[in-house]
Amino acid sequence: MIKLGVNIDHIATLRQARKEDFPSPVKAMAVCEKAGADSITTHLREDRRHIQDRDVFEIKAAMQTKLNFEMAACDEIVNIALKLQPYSVCIVPEKRQEVTTEGGLDVFSQKDKLAEVVKKLKDKNIIVSMFVDPDEKQIQACADIKADSVEIHTGKYANLFKVSKENAADEMKNIKRSAEIAKECGLIFNAGHGLDYKNVFDICGIENLNELNIGFSIIARAVFDGLETAVFEMKKILSKY
Ligand code: PXP
Repeated sequence: MIKLGVNIDHIATLRQARKEDFPSPVKAMAVCEKAGADSITTHLREDRRHIQDRDVFEIKAAMQTKLNFEMAACDEIVNIALKLQPYSVCIVPEKRQEVTTEGGLDVFSQKDKLAEVVKKLKDKNIIVSMFVDPDEKQIQACADIKADSVEIHTGKYANLFKVSKENAADEMKNIKRSAEIAKECGLIFNAGHGLDYKNVFDICGIENLNELNIGFSIIARAVFDGLETAVFEMKKILSKY
């Protein structure tokens, strides 16, 4: 069964819009867990635009499932991760101006620097994943630096799928090929970004897929249907695979 990680950053985005103390990401975490989430993802961005330092420690202390901590590979955030001790981290590229994580991390060009970060985190028994595009060279580089897993950026697939499934067929081939390469390299294969209740089915059909991390579409649906239902309905899809 494919695992569902729910990204709850957007609960904090809503809270920060008014700098209130609600809606609470801790409460959202508990609702997601109750509805069947296998893990909870939060991204502590360098600009602290949504999730705050306090949130991640409070979530970690209160949760029953696993915390997947998304982060840039910069010293400040690495030190926070070492203190927080999440179950896993996912290293992502980060640009201040971007609305969301726009592309995968270029692991290939910064193998030495990233290998050091991976080692520091793995020494604390934290599982380390790298958020990369579906590109053979990048996946191989993740294995070279001894990461445990890759999370493939499905944003391009999701954008192409908006036109039609056929329009996204080539990108689907790239993602499937990435899953094969990850397997050959001994990497756990996860995916995420831009996935929703329509485009997720073919992704779920990929062999060797361990976990999907999904945020925006679930939180958006929660506005009308409630968070518990939104998570439950996504979990229902994933549990068929
Ligand atoms: N995985 C990673 C590494 C991400 O950066 C994000 C977005 O924060 C997601 C998954 C979830 O993407 P979305 O919110 O589009 O579902």
